[in-house]
Amino acid sequence: TNMSIIGVPMDLGQSRRGVDMGPSAIRYAGVIETLENLNYNIADLGDVAVSRPDSKEQIQEGNLRNLQQVHECNKKLAEMVDEEIGKNRFPLVLGGDHSIAIGSLAGTAKHYDNLGVIWYDAHGDLNSGETSPSGNIHGMPLAVSLGIGHEKLTNIHEYAPKVKPENIVIVGARSLDPGEKELIREKGITVYSMHEVDRMGMPQVMAETIDYLKARTDGVHLSLDLDGLDPEEAPGVGTPVIGGLSYRESHLAMEMLSEADILTSAEFVEVNPILDDKNKTAAMAVGLMGSLFGEKLK
Ligand code: ARG
Ligand code: MN
Ligand code: MN
Ligand code: MN
Repeated sequence: TNMSIIGVPMDLGQSRRGVDMGPSAIRYAGVIETLENLNYNIADLGDVAVSRPDSKEQIQEGNLRNLQQVHECNKKLAEMVDEEIGKNRFPLVLGGDHSIAIGSLAGTAKHYDNLGVIWYDAHGDLNSGETSPSGNIHGMPLAVSLGIGHEKLTNIHEYAPKVKPENIVIVGARSLDPGEKELIREKGITVYSMHEVDRMGMPQVMAETIDYLKARTDGVHLSLDLDGLDPEEAPGVGTPVIGGLSYRESHLAMEMLSEADILTSAEFVEVNPILDDKNKTAAMAVGLMGSLFGEKLK
């Protein structure tokens, strides 16, 4: 399989610096070597440029921090992802904060009638400027992809919406804002929160997720936020939430996805090496990628 790696050193979708070094940390942890050893043909396209904000102008219109910079970067990312898929190359995007899912999904969804999305995350990222408690765009990308939010975000790559609510499955949620819960209810989005993971176990959660998406989608994007994992094991993230998924559960999830052979694009986001312990979170991301791409996709 041909795979293109795209780094996105974006830290402007939230307020803690350092997550812009995520792509370097993941490369340093051996992503290229790991995937080449699994016989992938890898092209590392380097990093998408991120322009810096004018320091006086952080919160811009409508409770959206760094809107213009996030818009511009995602526009470029969408074009790159679109082009790689057009060349029949699997896009693997390395973040950067989760606001970059806006561009990944914009570039990806164009190629499918029914793109499925697995949102592996402690959070729903279903806020808009109106519901966000923080103004941080990394808490909004899934809503944006549904067409909810500022036009400069929802209309990236000149179309909207990117995904349908019934094609989304959230796994690992344990911190949802009131507006996000309302949207989940209103749109009927499937959520396996930590409660369901505890009750059913990861094997059942992933089996159901895979069956459900297999039956209704023609492509699946995995958006994996490292804060979906427990911060004891993956401390290098900007918005940690206790009581998360274990490394073992996550490995199993990746192995089941590999076996099911349904993924058509993926991203790993929110690795912040400044908050990490000897790059272990980046190493964990690479370990998960090893399982995800281990057998069936090559
Ligand atoms: N829900 C909170 C917010 O909107 C936290 C979002 C965290 N998102 C993330 N991708 N880590 O600000
Ligand atoms: Mn998160
Ligand atoms: Mn523009
Ligand atoms: Mn997230």
